[in-house]
Amino acid sequence: MRTLVTGGAGFIGSFVCDRLLKDGHSVTAYDDLSLGRVRNIEQNLSNPKFRFVEGDILAPRMDEVFATGEFECVFHMAANSDIARSHESPSIDLDRTFMTTFRVLEAMRKNGVKQIVFASTSAIYGETTGRINESYGPLIPISHYGAGKLASEAFITSFAENYSIQSWITRFPNVVGPRSTHGAVYDFVQKLRKTPGSLHVLGNGQQIKPYLNVEDLVQGIMLVWTKASEKVNIFNIGADTRTRVADIARIVIEEGPAPAEIVYAGGDRGWIGDVPEFEYDTSSIRQLGWSPSMTSDEAIRVAAAAAWSEQV
Ligand SMILES: NC(=O)c1ccc[n+]([C@@H]2O[C@H](COP(=O)([O-])OP(=O)(O)OC[C@H]3O[C@@H](n4cnc5c(N)ncnc54)[C@H](O)[C@@H]3O)[C@@H](O)[C@H]2O)c1
Repeated sequence: MRTLVTGGAGFIGSFVCDRLLKDGHSVTAYDDLSLGRVRNIEQNLSNPKFRFVEGDILAPRMDEVFATGEFECVFHMAANSDIARSHESPSIDLDRTFMTTFRVLEAMRKNGVKQIVFASTSAIYGETTGRINESYGPLIPISHYGAGKLASEAFITSFAENYSIQSWITRFPNVVGPRSTHGAVYDFVQKLRKTPGSLHVLGNGQQIKPYLNVEDLVQGIMLVWTKASEKVNIFNIGADTRTRVADIARIVIEEGPAPAEIVYAGGDRGWIGDVPEFEYDTSSIRQLGWSPSMTSDEAIRVAAAAAWSEQV
């Protein structure tokens, strides 16, 4: 299949590109490199089935790429991934998380592209109790990022109905692994590189969430895309196990070069909009035959080792 991966030079998008190429598809990766990096995709640059285009989804270049690409499926992975930053500038998530989705859908409509796989998030659920499944509601996101993703989901389903675009909405929790440039594991490693011996942690360390290895995630995305066949397919993809922030700090230090003292800032969350605790019900995707190969703690340890070994 001819595919377009928006955000294809980002952390998750680059693994999606790797996997699509491995499965024999042709891939155009489109990314403005605001958060992504060419080194995430350099292993594919000499592959004749791969093409990288640098550009902003909101710029006219996107229309040119659609007009010539004859795409059959779009993997829409591009978004603002810096959740805390949009507290100061809410328009970041309006533009980069929501409008990017709308622009992709419009380009699909105009060019007759009939499939979209969307990177959604647990942040659309807001603060919850108990194990949340895909039917959980009401949906009350508490971050602009979660709001931008929920609005994106709503337009994807309305485009599905109006223009017969089939959609796979995959809702991830925190995803970790090599090539990441954000999140607790990455931040802790960067902080320890700057101030070895002391790790300053936002919040009280008690926040607890599921963390999923990026290759397990991509395996889940591909399974859902190939096996689920409704007009709109919505799946949580996540680990059933969880890790506390205090344990992430401990594991990152254990995987690093030297011991360090952990200093907590206090408060029940890292920043405004941070959901301190949630738990996923993943029975829908498990029924399709997917389960993660790593527990949440194992995924954190693999990601921590990778973050320490990567160049800054
Ligand atoms: N990492 C996680 O824990 C997580 C969890 C849930 C959902 N997601 C979603 O998965 C997707 C990938 O996230 P990630 O962690 O790989 O983040 P990332 O920042 O590494 O990847 C996003 C990519 O999109 C690109 N991008 C952003 N705005 C763009 C624009 N206007 N035009 C072109 N390119 C643009 C960035 O340069 C970056 O390469 C995002 O949609 C994110 O919201 C991530």
